[in-house]
Amino acid sequence: MIEVRPASGDDAAFVLATMLQTWESPLVAVHGELIDVTTLPALIAWESGEQVGLATHRPHPGDSSWEVVSLHAVVAGIGAGTALLDEVARLARAAGARRIWLVTTNDNVAALRFYQRHGMDLVALHRDAVTEGRKLKPSIPHEVDGIRMRHELELEWLL
Ligand SMILES: CC(C)(COP(=O)(O)OP(=O)(O)OC[C@H]1O[C@@H](n2cnc3c(N)ncnc32)[C@H](O)[C@@H]1OP(=O)(O)O)[C@@H](O)C(=O)NCCC(=O)NCCS
Repeated sequence: MIEVRPASGDDAAFVLATMLQTWESPLVAVHGELIDVTTLPALIAWESGEQVGLATHRPHPGDSSWEVVSLHAVVAGIGAGTALLDEVARLARAAGARRIWLVTTNDNVAALRFYQRHGMDLVALHRDAVTEGRKLKPSIPHEVDGIRMRHELELEWLL
C-alpha cells in the first residue's frame, strides 16, 4: 500500500540523494530555466516504512496551473509514480488549479507511456529545448538508449 506525504525536514537527505541518483544534480534544466528542486514543495511516496518515490511541484498562479517539476520512483512498477501524480493533482485541484502539467524529454519513452496511460495529453513539442538546456546544465546526457536527447515534450492533465 503506497502512502504519499509531504516531505519534511527529515526527508531532505532522501530528496537530494534521489535527485543525484536520477539527474546527477538537484538542478533540473527545463523550458530555459535551471530549477533547484530542493527549494520546491515535495511529496514522498512510502511503502512499508521505506521511501519509494519523490515528486516536486510548483504553482503557476498566472494560468491557474501546477507544474510537476520532477517525478521519480525509486522502486518502479509498484504504484509510486501513480500515487504521487494523483496526489499532486488532488492538491492542485484543492488549491483551485485547473490543470497540472510537466515536461519530459524525447528519449524518455517509458515516462511518455506512463503519463499518457495516466490520462495526460501531449500539448506541445519544444524542439531543441534540451539542446538549449544543456547550456544551463552541461551534464545532461546527449543520448539515452541510442536516442539523441534533444526535445522537450509537454503534457497536461485538465483537472
Ligand atoms: C516514469 C515513472 C515515474 C513511473 O513511475 P512508477 O512508479 O514506475 O509507475 P507505477 O508503478 O505507478 O505504474 C507503472 C505500472 O506499474 C503498474 N503497477 C502499479 N502498482 C502495481 C502493483 N502493486 N503491482 C503490479 N503492477 C503495478 C501500473 O498499473 C503501471 O502499469 P502499466 O505500465 O501497465 O500501465 C518511473 O518509471 C520513473 O521514476 N522513471 C525514471 C525517472 C523519470 O523518467 N521520471 C519522469 C521524468 S519526466
